[in-house]
Amino acid sequence: MGSSEISGFYKKSLEERLSIVREFAKLDEAEIELLKKFGAMDFETANRMVENVVSTQQLPLGIATNFRVNGKDCLVPMALEEPSVVAAASKAAGIAREKGGFSAEATPPIMVGQVQLVHLKEAKRAVKEIERNAGRLVDLANQADPVLVKFGGGAKKIESRAIETKRGKMVIVHLLVDVKDAMGANAVNTMCETIAPELEKLSGGEARLRIISNLAVYRTVKAKATFSKKALEESFKEGALKGEEIIEHILDAYHFAANDAFRACTHNKGIMNGIDAVAIATGQDFRALEAGAHAFASLKGKYTALTSYSKDREGNLVGEIEMPIAVGLVGGAVKTSPVAKIAVKILGIKTASELAEIMAAVGLAQNFAALRALATEGIQKGHMRLHAKNIAVMAGAKGKEIDEIAEKMASERNVRVDRAKELLKEFGEK
Ligand code: MEV
Repeated sequence: MGSSEISGFYKKSLEERLSIVREFAKLDEAEIELLKKFGAMDFETANRMVENVVSTQQLPLGIATNFRVNGKDCLVPMALEEPSVVAAASKAAGIAREKGGFSAEATPPIMVGQVQLVHLKEAKRAVKEIERNAGRLVDLANQADPVLVKFGGGAKKIESRAIETKRGKMVIVHLLVDVKDAMGANAVNTMCETIAPELEKLSGGEARLRIISNLAVYRTVKAKATFSKKALEESFKEGALKGEEIIEHILDAYHFAANDAFRACTHNKGIMNGIDAVAIATGQDFRALEAGAHAFASLKGKYTALTSYSKDREGNLVGEIEMPIAVGLVGGAVKTSPVAKIAVKILGIKTASELAEIMAAVGLAQNFAALRALATEGIQKGHMRLHAKNIAVMAGAKGKEIDEIAEKMASERNVRVDRAKELLKEFGEK
C-alpha cells in the first residue's frame, strides 16, 4: 500500500498527479485516459476552481419541461444522478400549468454574518454598547465593499444578543447584509472580519468566529401552485382514481410529514432533489442550500415539512413552499463553469432572486410529484421502468430492444440483469 502523505501535490503537473494516483490505486491506462478527458470543463478552469485537480466528475444534465413561473415559461436545467427526478418535475409542472403554473416571490437578498465575542466582562453592557454604535459599525462594514454599496446593497443592520454556554457568556453579533445578486459568503465574511476589531473594542471581549450563517432566514422564497382535481385525475390512466380521492390521499401524506420528523426528512429530501439539481446545474453552493433548508425546517422547535397543502374553495389542491434559497449569479462557479453559464442562459434569468424563485417552484413540483406517486400507485412503478432501461443496457440491449426488454421486465416486476439477458436472447431468436 502506497503512502497518502504527498508534499506539494498542488504544485505538480496534471501528468505528475495522474501518475501518482495511478501508482497508488493501480489504475490502468484506459482509466487514466478517461480521467484525462475532462469533458466540458478543461483542466485549467477546473484547477483554478479547486485544488489538486486530476479530472472532472460529470453528471447528466436533464431539462425539466412544462414550467411556468410567474407567468413566464422556462426550461429548467437539472444536474443529478437519480433517475425519475427530471421526469417527475416535468410531470408536476405539466399538472400545475392547467391553473397557470407557479407563482413565486423572493424576499430581498439579506444574508446574516456572525461575529462571536468571548471573554466578556459584562455581556449585557457589551450588547448595549454595540447597539449604540450600530450605525458606525454598518458604515465600517460598508467600507469593505464599496462595489456592493454602489449597486444598492451592503450592510444594513446590526443585531446582538448574549448566549450562555459551558465556556461562559458570549455575545453573538449579527450583521445583516443585502448581497444583491451574489450568494454573499465572500462579501459577508469580509465585512465580519472588518468590523471584528471594533467589536472587540466596544465589548471589551475577544472576537473568535467571523462567518456567514447559512440559515438565511431573511432570504426566503415562497412559491405556490394549484393542482386541479381535473388535471390530477387526467394524470392517471382513465378512471384509475378520482381527482378528489387523489387530493385526499396527498393531504394525508402531507399531514404525516408535518407531524413526523422521520417522514419530514424524506419529504424534504424530495424537495431538495429538485433544488439541488438546479443548484448543481447552475454552479451554486448546494451544501449551503441543504444546511439552510434543514435548519429552517426545524426553526419552530420541531423538524417539519418545508411545503404545505390545502384545498381551495373548488376542492383543488393548493401546494405552497417557503424556505431560504441563497443563490448567486455573480462570482463563484456560476461565472467559471462553462455548463453553469449555459444553464443560466437556458433559464433566461437576470437576477439571483429569479433563480431562487424558479428553484422554489421546482422544489414544490418535485415534492408534489413524489406525494402524488407515493399516495397512490407508489414510486417503484415509474422508477422501475427507468431502472429497467439501465438494466437492459447493462445486459447488452441496443436501440428498440432496450425499451421492449425494460417494459417486459417492469410489467413482470422482475428487473434483473439475468432476466434481461434471457429476454435479449429471445429477442435475437425472433
Ligand atoms: C427519493 O429520492 C425522494 C422521495 O423519497 C421523496 C418522498 O418520499 O417524498 C420519493
